[in-house]
Amino acid sequence: MQTRGMNPVTTLTPEQIAQFRADGFLALPSITTPAEVAQLRGIFDRLFAEGAGWKKGAQFDLAGTDENQRPALPQILNPAEFAPELRATQFRQNALAIARQLLGADAEPWFEHAILKPPRYGAATPWHQDEAHRDDPGVTYEQLSVWLPLQEATEANGCMRFIARSHLGPVLPHHSPGDDPRVTALECVGSFAPADAIPCPLPAGGATIHHCRTLHAAGPNGSDLPRRAYILAFRSAVRPDAAFRGYPWNGEKHTAAQARHAAWQNRGGPLGRASRAALSAAAGLLARVRGKAARLLRK
Ligand code: NI
Repeated sequence: MQTRGMNPVTTLTPEQIAQFRADGFLALPSITTPAEVAQLRGIFDRLFAEGAGWKKGAQFDLAGTDENQRPALPQILNPAEFAPELRATQFRQNALAIARQLLGADAEPWFEHAILKPPRYGAATPWHQDEAHRDDPGVTYEQLSVWLPLQEATEANGCMRFIARSHLGPVLPHHSPGDDPRVTALECVGSFAPADAIPCPLPAGGATIHHCRTLHAAGPNGSDLPRRAYILAFRSAVRPDAAFRGYPWNGEKHTAAQARHAAWQNRGGPLGRASRAALSAAAGLLARVRGKAARLLRK
């Protein structure tokens, strides 16, 4: 790994790039500073304690139906929406530089999530390929995820596990765990050998990087401390793909988080929707006027 400058950008060596292409995953001993990891832990603990995003369906129990008072695998989708300081991290800068090395210079941030695996009862993350979650018919792109543990990740608290070279095959069949479409998680039911899994324990502030077709899972948290992980997903330029119609296992989902999201979007009824549309149009207009003014000033 190489770092440079006052605000160092971590990039991969040619050997690391070759290893990612061959295996579909890579472990790094460090992607950010201990100080930033401590800061991120504080932000995560606040967001989960506040229930950030719950009302709009952005916080939910990945492994359950949201009826449990003690969610087994709480997750927040796009946590930067609720903690804007997450947009200015060294982790993000380094992860983007690495994503562009692996996916090409046009790779962009795609989405992110915060995961909390509670001590002693935090559930296992089932075996899956991230691409199986894809629900945007008609297009295709390359995608990868950078997984940052905010404390040590061990086999006892649920570190990541990967099936090497699985990214070279197709997206395998998936289903909702327990065939319950109210659960957001997906579980691979295709043919693979979990016994071949390679566990990737990491120090706090280390990272694993995996391709969107790499089969991966994480064990339950049997330790006495929470296991927090921050994941940034990136994608290459989007290309048309008329052959991709979406996956049946996603069409079957009906989760409580989806229902909360729909209710949140409809809040205030037609009047609420109309006033939010007007506000967003006005904000867009303002941004365009500002952009135009800035371009004129630069001339
Ligand atoms: Ni995943």
